[in-house]
Amino acid sequence: MNQTLSAFGDIEARYTLLKSVAGNAAKLGMDYYTRRENLTVIHKENDLQDVVSVADKAVEDYIRCELSKAFPSDGFLGEEGGALDLEARYLWVIDPIDGTSCFVNGLHSWCVSIGLMVDGLPVLGAIADPNHGELFHACRGAGAFVNDTVIRVHAAQHVREGLTGVGTTYRRGKESFLPFLQGLLDEGGMFIRNGSAALMISYVAAGRLIGYYETNLKSWDCLAGLVVLQEAGGIASDFLRNNGLLDGNSLLVACPGVYEQLSDLVGPSLDTDC
Ligand code: IPD
Ligand code: CA
Ligand code: CA
Repeated sequence: MNQTLSAFGDIEARYTLLKSVAGNAAKLGMDYYTRRENLTVIHKENDLQDVVSVADKAVEDYIRCELSKAFPSDGFLGEEGGALDLEARYLWVIDPIDGTSCFVNGLHSWCVSIGLMVDGLPVLGAIADPNHGELFHACRGAGAFVNDTVIRVHAAQHVREGLTGVGTTYRRGKESFLPFLQGLLDEGGMFIRNGSAALMISYVAAGRLIGYYETNLKSWDCLAGLVVLQEAGGIASDFLRNNGLLDGNSLLVACPGVYEQLSDLVGPSLDTDC
């Protein structure tokens, strides 16, 4: 373990457990996914686009149970289970199924995403995609991987050299979305949306996408991905600004060669709370 990492206490044991829990949680999610015709889908707060099923809750329960058995003093922030001891030194940030709309509609781009903050800093991340047999993972200062293979961001210097992931909702922050798309296309770029923020950030880390912009995310959508991205050499806007951990924010991530160009296309909203 390097010196910087030792400042984070018992991080190696947490990293090892994280990878196995994320993988097993993804298997559990897959059990539900293969039986999804029988799942009751609920619309959160009467929002027809915001869906959840019993699978999301069951997967998060499993993750919290396994992590707290090993580390009973750690805190939790999860999309379905809410907050528990936010002041804890070690805070797990969990999205049991990121890409639930895809999940309930039989589309394969969903995953389990688990990040760990230590003293307020994102330190561990794991994103498990059971449909493609991929586990993206990273520990601050120790590199980024998909399964056992090291990953690195794209070498692009201009947006026309690759694909840029995008995402938005009809609810918040969307005002900058169409101008961004227009600017991207004007520059000869191209966009793609797969319905899972955690996977798109991982794809930027793995050099499959050159960047990704979403107008409003929650911390459980992106915290794990941000660790993977940083360790793969990517750049991210300051997601945690203005209480982003609890309130969310817009997010831009990219390989270094196109970050400035994409940031100019997004405009000033990246520096403000949305
Ligand atoms: C959603 C996905 C989607 C993004 C939404 C998120 P969920 O998470 O990450 O890609 O556009 O903003 O809410 O609801 O599937 O966990
Ligand atoms: Ca999510
Ligand atoms: Ca979710």
